[in-house]
Amino acid sequence: MSDEENITTSKGPDRPLMATKHFLSIDDFSTADISALLDLGDHYAALNRRTVKRADVLTGRTLVNLFFENSTRTQASFEIAGMRLGADVLNLPVATSSTVKGETLIDTAKTLDAMQPDFLVVRHSAARAPHEIAAHVSCAVLNAGDGANEHPTQGLLDALAMRRAFGRLEGLTVAICGDIRHSRVAGSNYRLLTKMGADVRFVGPEHLMPASGPLADAPQFADMREGLSGADVVMMLRIQIERMEETAGSMVMATKEKYFADWGLTADKLAWAKPEAKVMHPGPMNRGVEIDGALADDPDRSLVLTQVEMGVAARMAVLHALGTG
Ligand code: NCD
Repeated sequence: MSDEENITTSKGPDRPLMATKHFLSIDDFSTADISALLDLGDHYAALNRRTVKRADVLTGRTLVNLFFENSTRTQASFEIAGMRLGADVLNLPVATSSTVKGETLIDTAKTLDAMQPDFLVVRHSAARAPHEIAAHVSCAVLNAGDGANEHPTQGLLDALAMRRAFGRLEGLTVAICGDIRHSRVAGSNYRLLTKMGADVRFVGPEHLMPASGPLADAPQFADMREGLSGADVVMMLRIQIERMEETAGSMVMATKEKYFADWGLTADKLAWAKPEAKVMHPGPMNRGVEIDGALADDPDRSLVLTQVEMGVAARMAVLHALGTG
């Protein structure tokens, strides 16, 4: 790499034309949109490995992170993505904000919107909360996870990690395993991957399978050996106790060892998938519950940290593509 390439900031490639102002659901994007976002993600993945990680495409713009649920990866990733594109970034400390004084979600969003931000990144425990907000504000709204519904930038970053590992998405067999029913990650991955020509199947106990809605159409396997057979990718999900009825959650956690024995991914069980199969997990991981720690750390099999790396690149791609006019 030349010094010049290493130190100069750039305006980045041309902005792909997107029909939507917000980034709320994978359903709003065509296969061409997704391919363009993945290409842009590859561009930013390369930039992020340079010494100077900077593209001046959002200089002077303001991004506000509004997270009503805990987050390590997603919030840090949006913050870094915004900064690397030159935007000013504010993380609203929700726990100490007026929402605890009884202000409604829409009033909080309208208050922030009156400060003229360009992007509002929203995570909330209620499905479609970001969609609701989008109807009341003038800035672009990005969905960073709404209840058990969707997490579209996670779908995009997972697709980017897969496309870089296999060179394609079309024709890949992706086994998504564990707590599908409460997972917004499964919601966005299913929508995106099937749109892009991959075969998605769900593997896990019956009570954690989607009961209704678009995900109920996917093939479901209650036998892990059968479910992993022929898989290129095995994506493990956390048991999302916070979204379960209290009794169901405590039942699952009381039998952690049994869950790991039946459904936890180990090197032995991974042998049921294709020989070069990759392991994915959106994080946060519960080692020894849904995944064996040594397998998650195995750089030959695990894409877990690649997913985190691609999270920044994918979010830079989305912010750049939405632009601000
Ligand atoms: C996920 C989420 O919050 O939906 N985490 C993430 O964003 N990487 C998955 C989870 O909480 O288990």
